[in-house]
Amino acid sequence: MASSKKRGAFIVLEGIDRSGKSTQSKKLHEHLTAQKIANQLIRYPDRTTITDCKQNKKLGKLLNEYLQCKQEVDDRAIHLIFSANRHEAKQQLLSWLEEGYTVICDRYSYSGTVYTYSKNVIKRDKMEKEGDKSIKSQKALDWEWCKHVDQGLIQPDVVIYLNVKDLATVKNRGEFGNERYENEAMLKQVLKSYQTFLAEDADKKIWSIVDANQAVEDVHKQIVSITLATIESVASKPVQYL
Ligand code: TYD
Ligand code: MG
Repeated sequence: MASSKKRGAFIVLEGIDRSGKSTQSKKLHEHLTAQKIANQLIRYPDRTTITDCKQNKKLGKLLNEYLQCKQEVDDRAIHLIFSANRHEAKQQLLSWLEEGYTVICDRYSYSGTVYTYSKNVIKRDKMEKEGDKSIKSQKALDWEWCKHVDQGLIQPDVVIYLNVKDLATVKNRGEFGNERYENEAMLKQVLKSYQTFLAEDADKKIWSIVDANQAVEDVHKQIVSITLATIESVASKPVQYL
């Protein structure tokens, strides 16, 4: 990377279902494009990767089928596949940042840990309630293990967390679909797990919390301002890794 060339910023949006991530990442993409700021909009899981051996990308289709409950996969195995779906795209992401593109990313590593971990908490609670003896042999999917497999991925320059304070707000934003994880018990546990991440990562200073209960345009304005400040501040700094 030439020293005079400014790199792009890696902007991640995180939050529970219906917190507004997809709407906001799209609006941010449109805004930056209108301002002639080079950018790319991506999302995880990237369900589009099928079998592109040249690019070594092939996991998206399986993840899509898993989320649509068309395939059952062991909990640890699917966690690794969600993670590999990010690792398989790492080189492309790095190239974009070095070429000066700002990358907006709808969900990333944090969703990976928070969703797998939450699923396991719910499973174990249910087994406990039902007095299922096999709970002893089923070691918990631990938080550190969930996080660990994402080591070596590119670290976001900022994680914009769309903070939903009360679930009543998102409940009014339409019904759940039919995908795996789209239920209230999961939503509550995911919300708690995001809080754990925020507390643990306090030292990294990469999280930026935005009140997701505000009007769409107000949320958008805040996200634009965080993004522009981040683009400016990281332009001459090296990319960091998880
Ligand atoms: P979602 O973001 O709601 O996508 P869409 O807008 O297409 O419905 O769905 C992605 C689901 O995948 C969501 O339930 C979170 C889950 N997920 C994981 O379990 N692990 C991961 O690593 C990622 C990125 C997402
Ligand atoms: Mg969804």
